[in-house]
Amino acid sequence: MADNLATWGGWDPAVRDDPFGHFAEARAECPVQKARLADGHSAWIVLGYDAARQALNDPGISKDMLAALQDNGDVVAEGLPGPEFSRHMLNIDPPDHTRLRRLVSRAFAPPRIAALEPAIRAIAGSLLDELDSAGPGATVDLIEGYAHPLPFRVIGELLGIPAADGPRLHAWFQVLLTGWAGDPPPEAVEASDGIVGYLRELVATKRHSPADDLVSVLVAAEDDRLTTQELLSSLFQLIVAGHDTTASLIGNGVVALLDHPNQLQALLADIGQLPTAIDELVRFTAPVPHATFRVTSKPVTVDGVEIPGHEQVLVCLGSANRDPAHFPAADVLDLARRNGSNLGFGHGIHYCLGAPLARLEARVAFEELLSRHPCMRLSVDRGALAWTHGDGLVLRGLASLPVVLAPTPRQS
Ligand code: HEM
Repeated sequence: MADNLATWGGWDPAVRDDPFGHFAEARAECPVQKARLADGHSAWIVLGYDAARQALNDPGISKDMLAALQDNGDVVAEGLPGPEFSRHMLNIDPPDHTRLRRLVSRAFAPPRIAALEPAIRAIAGSLLDELDSAGPGATVDLIEGYAHPLPFRVIGELLGIPAADGPRLHAWFQVLLTGWAGDPPPEAVEASDGIVGYLRELVATKRHSPADDLVSVLVAAEDDRLTTQELLSSLFQLIVAGHDTTASLIGNGVVALLDHPNQLQALLADIGQLPTAIDELVRFTAPVPHATFRVTSKPVTVDGVEIPGHEQVLVCLGSANRDPAHFPAADVLDLARRNGSNLGFGHGIHYCLGAPLARLEARVAFEELLSRHPCMRLSVDRGALAWTHGDGLVLRGLASLPVVLAPTPRQS
């Protein structure tokens, strides 16, 4: 590289298990700094809590990465499945963002989300039944058997994806979200083509036979308030945003609870504390450690640092949420912490639309798991847990989580 930019080491695969010390060092050095990313692109990394809120709220910092690509070849290029599937709310600015978000928001109205609770509980129960069928003392993978399929089935239910199609679609998404360096491998291209073909067919079916689901709501708005490109992109983005994130929260959350047995015991003694505990697990375990990429549409000042126009911005939510200037004892897991202001679901106009659904899914997932298996334990050394998503910056989740499920200490 022609410049002297330091490499952003806070997300090096070698430190993925505990990137927080690296975040803290970088944050103490400067809460807003320019660095070189692993893929060679440069970006302004925003690490402080106040700086992150400011950046996420600044109208001079755009989410329209496709437009930005015209002005600056150094922004992160579009991944699979390509531009045709990139016109969704996380990739656009107002007024288009406002229009799209309003349309999709209908499916996330509080009564509609609350009504999903029995279905979520039934899914959780049946997944646990399957895991339990391995017999007492058996090792099971909690990611593959629980954390991943649960939110995937729920988003399928919300969208109106027939249950029989779920496994095929899930397998494709898992390939696509594994992450890779450089050009996508053939299996990722194949998975991407499979998803594209499937979503096109699903939309065609709902055009002919609409039902009470989100795809039908969006199809009804097609042409009039929504282009076909926006419709397909939104479906793709909702499936991505709606499952791997929540799966990571459940997996990371279980590990954090096993790492902190006293906190786990306190929670078991008062399971009604789960809603507060879940927000703390989001803060502490950073299932989404970085917000998606942004780009300055003009020069902006963030926390006193001037960022020129057409530069890429990466907000490190995992760092902001451990900023001791905002969270006392920020590196301590405190499930009773009242921290409604953590940035784990983002901030500003792109604040997570699915946050109420994610909180509900996580609450039900933990209620069902902990009530059946309060004495579960890891069946591998803590240091052997492997993190997934390659160089991808947006997700922090486990590739697998081998545990022995146990209702009582004796059985473990
Ligand atoms: C623990 C689970 C989740 C976490 C931690 C999470 C986190 C986030 C974050 C940080 C953002 C903002 C990204 C940015 O500004 O660059 C976001 C946006 C979004 N999330 Fe989530 N999310 C979760 C679950 C979900 C679920 C279950 C859904 C839907 C089913 C969902 C749908 C969305 C959508 C549609 C956006 C874009 C909103 C917009 O651009 O206006 N998320 N999420």
